[in-house]
Amino acid sequence: MQSVLDTAGPLAEHIARLFWIFAGVAAVVYLLVTGFLVHALRRRREAGEAPRDTRHALRAVGVAVGATAFILVGLALADFFAGRASTRAPGDAMRVRVTAHQWWWEIEYLDGTPSERVRTANELHLPVGRPVALELISDDVIHSFWVPSLNGKKDLLPGYTTNLQLVASRAGVYPGQCAEFCGFQHAQMGLAVHAHAPEDFVRWQSAQRQASPEPLDAIQRRGRDVFMSSTCAQCHRVQGTEAAAVLGPDLTHVASRRQLAAGTLPNNPEAMASWIRNPQRFKPGTRMPASQLTGDDLSALVSWLGSLR
Ligand code: CUA
Repeated sequence: MQSVLDTAGPLAEHIARLFWIFAGVAAVVYLLVTGFLVHALRRRREAGEAPRDTRHALRAVGVAVGATAFILVGLALADFFAGRASTRAPGDAMRVRVTAHQWWWEIEYLDGTPSERVRTANELHLPVGRPVALELISDDVIHSFWVPSLNGKKDLLPGYTTNLQLVASRAGVYPGQCAEFCGFQHAQMGLAVHAHAPEDFVRWQSAQRQASPEPLDAIQRRGRDVFMSSTCAQCHRVQGTEAAAVLGPDLTHVASRRQLAAGTLPNNPEAMASWIRNPQRFKPGTRMPASQLTGDDLSALVSWLGSLR
């Protein structure tokens, strides 16, 4: 369930509070206007066509116009301050670059030396309590990054970096998705933010910094050979192997992720095999082509990918 009112961080709370201010003011104004209308209709029926006191009526209209202007200015100020408060969280922020692609999210942790940079896809992991400064950019068309429980939306533009901060105040998994129509599979461009306790985050990060593990048996070795000799290695990177392409998601730790293809499928061997065989069946228009792999080659490949934790 995604809801801006189910907040999990201080930045999102500013937005939720703004919603309640607007809803409350609008409800009071609605009740007042309806009340005055009913009152006026009743008085008119009682008085019939008797002459009215126009001075009194003019004063009432003046008061109503003044109150309307006052309320609108107040709401504009509340909006301005909530917008400003939701852009920056105090504290030492962790830098993460998010690149939107049709139709998946590339996530790169920029802190540390180049060899310590972690690359993943469709899952943003962060430590509870520490702000994360996102540098957002798009590889193709305009997308929009939106995790309702953590902050508002922010567009990702080709050739221009935008910024957004996130802070999670409690551990959990917060779903999000692309919020700007970006083509055929816009609806299948999900992401998940995993907020960890700080020590769990450190553990996750150091596991992700490792190169891929060596194959454990002959089947996995065969799977790795299939990967390197087929079209897979032309688009994907697996650190610790010769596969170094960056057109598709980095698969160094693909088995540690919960879902495949930006939230389209669960990450299990059956789904992985079906996805590799024919991605267009699950996500028509996706850039990943169908493969010619079948039988033992495919199951060996799935077995090796399943070992990349
Ligand atoms: Cu990316 Cu919609």
